[in-house]
Amino acid sequence: MAVVQKAERVGSPRSRGGKPVGNITRGTTNPNRMRRLDRWLAGPQAWRLRAAVDPLVVDLGYGASPTTAVELFERLRAVRPDVRVCGIEIEPERVRTAKALERPGLSFHVGGFEVPVPGNPVLVRAFNVLRQYEEADVAGIWRLVQSRLAPGGLFIDGTCDEIGRRVTWVALDPERPLSLSFSVRFGSFELPSEVAERLPKALIHRNVPGEPIHAFLQAMDKAWLEAAPLASFGNRQRWTGMCRSLHDAGWPLQDGPARWRLGEVTVAWEAVAPH
Ligand SMILES: C[S@@+](CC[C@H](N)C(=O)[O-])C[C@H]1O[C@@H](n2cnc3c(N)ncnc32)[C@H](O)[C@@H]1O
Repeated sequence: MAVVQKAERVGSPRSRGGKPVGNITRGTTNPNRMRRLDRWLAGPQAWRLRAAVDPLVVDLGYGASPTTAVELFERLRAVRPDVRVCGIEIEPERVRTAKALERPGLSFHVGGFEVPVPGNPVLVRAFNVLRQYEEADVAGIWRLVQSRLAPGGLFIDGTCDEIGRRVTWVALDPERPLSLSFSVRFGSFELPSEVAERLPKALIHRNVPGEPIHAFLQAMDKAWLEAAPLASFGNRQRWTGMCRSLHDAGWPLQDGPARWRLGEVTVAWEAVAPH
C-alpha cells in the first residue's frame, strides 16, 4: 500500500462500508516525544480516567513504531491499573508490527477516525495526525471523534516537534473544544511565539493579525520580554511571571503556578478559537 506524504481530503467524515476514515500518512515518531502531554493526562486530567466506568483509552495514529502507545499505557496504568489502551493505525503493516507488543490491557487495531473499538473511550490521543490533513477537514474529524467519547471523555488533538520540546494541544469533550495548552522545554526557544510552527491544524494557518491566536502569541511574547528580569532566578520564574501577567491582563488561563513552573500553560478555547 502506498504511503503518502500528505493526506488527501477526507471525503466524508463517516465510516463507509467498513473502510477506515482517513488516509495513510508518514509514520514519523520518536520515543518519549509525548511525555509533556501524557504528564497532563496523568496529572490535572487524571480524574477523568479515575472516574471512568470503562477505563478505555485510544492512541489514534501511533505511527511507524508503537513505542509512544506503550508509554501511554505505562503512564496511565499508574493512574488506573485496569486501564485498557488501544492503539489504532490506518496503516495495516504498522498494526501487524505492533501486535508483537500486545499484553493484557494493550492492543493494536486497524482503523481511522471512526475509532473502531467496542465501547466509548474516556481519552483519545491523536498526536501529529491531524496536521497532515486539510484545515477544512478538521471540524468534521473533531465531531466524528467526539461522537465516540464517553461522557466526561477527552479528545486530544496535538502537535509537537521531533523530540517533544515544543508541544501544543487542543482538548475537546464530547460537546465542544475546551482549551489550548502549550508545553515547552525551557532553553528551547527565545520567544514563546516560536511554538506557532507546532500549533494544531485548526490554528496553524491562523497566526495572522486579526486572529485571536495571533493576539495570544503576541501577548505571550510581550509578557515574556517584560518578565526578563526574572530570568536571573531561572526560566521557570520567568515563565510563571509571564503567565501571571497574561492572567492579570484578562486572558482566561485555566491553570496556575503548579503547571506554569513546568513550562506549561492552558488557555480557554473561546479566547483563541479562529474567527
Ligand atoms: C506522524 S505519525 C505520528 C505518530 C505518533 N502519534 C507521534 O506523534 O509520534 C502519524 C500517523 O497517523 C496515522 N494516521 C493518519 N491518519 C489516520 C487516521 N485517520 N486514523 C488512524 N491513523 C492515522 C498515519 O498512518 C501515521 O502513522
